[in-house]
Formats: sequence, structure tokens, C-alpha cells
Amino acid sequence: MPAVALVVAAGRGERLGSDGPKALVPLAGRPMLQWSIAALQRAPGIERIVVALPEGVAAPEGCIGVAGGAERSHSVRNALAAAGTDADVILVHDAARPLLSAELVAACLAALDSGGGWDAAIAAAPVTDTIKRAPDGLAVHETLVRSELWAVQTPQVFRRTALERALARPDAELAAATDDAMLVERDGGRVRVVKAPRENLKVTTSVDLALAELLLGRGAGG
Ligand code: C5P
Repeated sequence: MPAVALVVAAGRGERLGSDGPKALVPLAGRPMLQWSIAALQRAPGIERIVVALPEGVAAPEGCIGVAGGAERSHSVRNALAAAGTDADVILVHDAARPLLSAELVAACLAALDSGGGWDAAIAAAPVTDTIKRAPDGLAVHETLVRSELWAVQTPQVFRRTALERALARPDAELAAATDDAMLVERDGGRVRVVKAPRENLKVTTSVDLALAELLLGRGAGG
């Protein structure tokens, strides 16, 4: 089942405090973006890679580059528009998760076709912290049942039709989406989790960057 991968790399990375775009931050000997691209190029079943990039950044070798949008979902939409029309399966990945492995890509692709009529299969790790809701940042309203909770990552793999429908929403609604699967869920789509390692972390702060450097230096990801 051939799939097209969309990598979103157009974030500014302000929370990282770096001068340039986060996707180009040096990490264990390569720009951060290159780690995800290398894992996707190794993964069987990925026939094309489209990357949403910050202004002035060239596409990595072997990839199609498009301009990123104002918010993450807009970058996904721009990349999907350049994906071609031949693939029925679309994988979305954040360049900010450089510990992606070819095995995790394969597991998500296999899960989509595992029976059950899934519209999406998304990488996620069981939550280890207890999660409480405190909407005003003060008073606790609720403690959620930890054994039911999953911390969602990328890659997220979609039936093309489901992702297209999900992204055909007004810009403001897309801007509020923190992942793509929630838009599919809102359409009544069937989304399943695929158990993923916590090491597939998102680099947001300098602490995450130091941890990613350590793990990649030890040979994790890939
Ligand atoms: O900002 P955040 O960490 O949630 O970004 C997740 C991913 O989305 C990153 O890989 C980032 O480069 C990408 N992104 C994007 N376009 C934006 C904002 C974020 O491609 N406008």
C-alpha cells in the first residue's frame, strides 16, 4: 500500500530560542529535519515525501518542497495539495520529532489496514503522569483516568479522503487544531492509536533538544 508522507517543518521554534528555523537546528551532526527524512526514506511503502518549509529553506534531496502556512494545519494543507493524486494513504509527521523510526512508520501503515474500517492510525504513548483538568490554571475540576490516556505523537496515517475532508474547514478552525486526527474525529471518522515509544519525543525546549541529542547519539530513532 504505497503512501505519501507530508513532513511539516515550517515552525519558527520560538520556544527553543534558536536564531533560525527549528527544522535546521543542528542535532547529533545533522539538521533536525534530516533525521525524519532519513527514517521516512528507509521505511517501506513511502513513495514520495513532501516537506512544508520555512521561507528561504530549500527542500531536502529527494523531497518536494512547499511553503509552510501560518499555523501547523495550514502547512499540512499546503503539503497535501502537492502530494499528487495517486496515493490513497497519507502520512503526516512533525519535523520536530527527529526520533522517528522506520519501524514506527511501518507499524502505523499496517495498523490502518488492520481491519475495523479505520480512517486514521496515530502514534501514541501511554501517559505516565496523572492528568488533571484545571481550565483557569488554579482550581482542579477533574482527574482523568490515567489508564485510558494516550499522549499523541506523529506519525499519523490517514485515508486520503478522510484527511482531505478534515482539512477542508475554515482557516480559523484549522488554526485551533493541535493535531490532524482531531479534525477527522470531529467528522465522525474512526481513529485508532498505535503504541509508540515515549522516546519519539517532540523537540520544543532546549531540554528536549539535549535529550534528543543524547538519544540519537546512542543510536535511537532511524
Ligand atoms: O509548534 P509545534 O511544535 O506544535 O509544531 C509542530 C510541527 O509543526 C513542527 O514540526 C513545526 O515545524 C510544524 N509547523 C509548521 N507550520 C507552522 C507551525 C508549525 O510546519 N506554521
